[in-house]
This record gives sequence, C-alpha cells and structure tokens, in this order.
Amino acid sequence: MKKQKIDSPLYLQVARNLENQIQQGAFRTGDQIPSVRDLSRQRRVSIATVLQAYFWLENKGWIEARPKSGFYVRTPAQNLNPVPAFRPARARPTPVTTSDIVVDLMQAHRGPVKVSLGTAVPGHDRLPTHQLNAIIRRLTREDPNLSISHEHAPGDPALRRQIARRSVMAGCNFLPQDVTITCGATEAMNLCLRAIGKPGDVIATESPTYFNVLQAIESLGMNAVEIPTDCRTGMDLDVLENVLKTHRVRGYIGITNCHNPLGYVLPDDKKRELVELLARHEVPLIEDDICGDLAYSAQRPRLAKSFDREGLVMVCGSFSKTVSPGLRLGWVHSERYQSKISRLKMITRISSPRLSEARSRCCSNREDMIVTYAGCACSLSNRCKHSARRYRNIFRREPAFPGLRAVTFSGSNCRNASTPSLCITRR
Ligand SMILES: Cc1ncc(COP(=O)(O)O)c(C=O)c1O
Repeated sequence: MKKQKIDSPLYLQVARNLENQIQQGAFRTGDQIPSVRDLSRQRRVSIATVLQAYFWLENKGWIEARPKSGFYVRTPAQNLNPVPAFRPARARPTPVTTSDIVVDLMQAHRGPVKVSLGTAVPGHDRLPTHQLNAIIRRLTREDPNLSISHEHAPGDPALRRQIARRSVMAGCNFLPQDVTITCGATEAMNLCLRAIGKPGDVIATESPTYFNVLQAIESLGMNAVEIPTDCRTGMDLDVLENVLKTHRVRGYIGITNCHNPLGYVLPDDKKRELVELLARHEVPLIEDDICGDLAYSAQRPRLAKSFDREGLVMVCGSFSKTVSPGLRLGWVHSERYQSKISRLKMITRISSPRLSEARSRCCSNREDMIVTYAGCACSLSNRCKHSARRYRNIFRREPAFPGLRAVTFSGSNCRNASTPSLCITRR
C-alpha cells in the first residue's frame, strides 16, 4: 500500500493529501484551499503539478474553481439535493393542456420578480451587446435601406451558407439550400410540425420537456405521447419503441444536446439508436438543438442528425442563447421537407427583417463569437452553482406559485448535467 503511494505520480500524491484533509474536515465546504502558487511553494513542487492535482480534485467533485477568486471545497455529492424523481408519464396519446400554467408563468415575468424562471434567457452581461451594436451601426452606415428591408424565405443566402459551414462542428454537412431562416427555434419547430402532421396527429416527445414544445403541439391541435426521460440517460427508448408499435406516431420532437430542463447531453450511441429506431418506423425526428453550442465539453456535441441516412431528421437551431434572444433568429435544416417548410414559412410570414439576418451573419462569421459561446458555457456553469442555493432559498421563503414547488437545479445536482437548468414540478 505504502509502496503504491510512493510509486504514484507526484500530482496524485499532492491531490490525495488534500483529499484526505477535506475528508477529515480540515477543509470544509466553502473553504478556500491554498492558491496554486502557495501550495507549489509549500510542497516544493511545480505549478504544473499543483494544477494537475487541482484538476484531479475538481474532476472528483471535491473542489471547484471560482473565476478570479481561486479554488474552493464544494458540497460533497452525497449532501446535494436528490435527483428529482419524475412520475412515470402515461405513454399514450393525450391532448396537451399546459397553456394556463405557461400563461401564469409569463404574466408573473412582467411583475416585480426576483428571479425570472419562466424562460432560459442568458444574462445580458453574457451577451456580445457591444459587438452587436457596432455591427448594426456599420451595416446601416454601409446600406441605410437595410433597416427597412425584408428578406423572403428561405432567407439570407450568406447566413444560410454560414449555418451550413458551422454544421461541421456538430458532425454534419448541411447544404445551404436545405436551410430555412426562421423567427427563432420556436417558429422552426412549429414549421416542422406542420410539415409532417395535421390536427389530431400524434407526436411523441420527452417528459419532461421544454414547455414550448408542448405549446406547439397544443396549438396545432395535435396529441402528445410522453416518453419518460431520465435526467442522466435521456428518453426511455424501450417505451418509445413500444409506443411506435402501438400508435400511429407522426413525429418525434426532442432535445438531444443540453436538454431543457434536464440538462443532459445524449451520448452518441443513444443518438444513433434513437435515429435508427425512428427510421425503422419511418417517423421523422425534429431535433431541437438550440443549446448545443453551450455544452461544457471542449468539443461541441454531435447532432443526432449526423447519424441520419434517410433524411428524416430536421434540425432546429437559433442564436437566442448565444448571440441575442432579441434577434428572434433561428433556422431549420431539412433535406426531405425543406421545400414544404420554406413554403409554409412564406405563407405564414412572407418575409423577415433583413437587418436581423445580416447582423446574425456578421456575428456567426466571427471567430471571437465562438469564444463568446465557450465563455458563455463556462460562466453559465459557474453562475449556476452559485445561483442554485440563492434561488432555492427565495423559493422556500416566497413561493411564486402556490401550486408549484421548485425541486432542483439539474445543472448543480446531476454530475452529468450539461447545462444549468431548473426543474419545476407540480404539487
Ligand atoms: C430547448 C429550447 N428550444 C427552443 C427555445 C426557443 O428558442 P427561440 O428563442 O430561438 O425561439 C428555447 C428557449 O428557451 C429552448 O430552451
């Protein structure tokens, strides 16, 4: 045993010493541990060794880095709130009736709310506001008519080319002609649903899921089948398979990367299984990828679309979480349904503001915006941890909705969660 300890790399010896001190209570939750420089001096080891030791402790969940402050002991996993246990959904088609609760939430949003939990909107300080304003000034100086012009479906060709180029990062190779620019991911999802179904049709989706997915199904007079979904492993594919065998399902609408509200990123194998399962039943997948760019991982997660061989997957994206929610700019990519989607877009909206599309094109073209995405993901992760306790206290003291109780922030509670998100359940 002793021999094994001496044989282990230096960084591991440093890390294990600190781990032991934390376990024995020498450092308690919230305590700051020595700075990298101090520990390197105290132990007479290099900075790189201490850094490696701290990364190891961070990976094991003992400590966390706080921006511009140092490393702190974090709450041990066993003391965290338990992962929420959702009631198993009834996996049979039912009409959606969530409008009232959503309207309540939206109206509360207008009042003097302490913390807005109605929608997942990035803090203003996280967004590239100055760059956006500079881009608007430049664009309107170069072409004053831009602010009064409109762009017809399928949208600005240069922006569609950029979206196609960026798809490589998600393991895909979109063609610009298969991309339609939309008013946010919300319009993209609505267009997809309309392209594949009609009132009365059955759409399968995760349970729980982002509330507007259900709103879209409800507004189109369709019925939803809820597929039980775990906050670590995603949707239950066995239940989905059973549903596909027993009901005439028109489509599946799901969030594969950084699920809202559960936070998981579906592993690649499961993305492939999902795509293959749906393809066997000839059921299109509407993949909502609005938060895919915000994953904490060094590499952007792949899209389920990257496993699609039949052209059955439609991808909905948007700039709402990375560049600006107020742009109201999204897109949908589809090979099989592109012309139908584009036509539907033309009928319902005729055109979109050209300035928004030009502005997004300038943003998404710039490398520093990609850095902004990564910074945004990183700071979201840190902010989530610090905000979770504060939000929970506010909710405990002043429940905003008597019928609701806040259960947990999955980003802070589930080790595997990939974005911070709040789960609310009904009493
Ligand atoms: C998972 C998910 N999909 C779609 C949307 C809506 O996106 P947009 O604002 O681009 O319409 C949101 C917004 O919060 C979301 O969280």
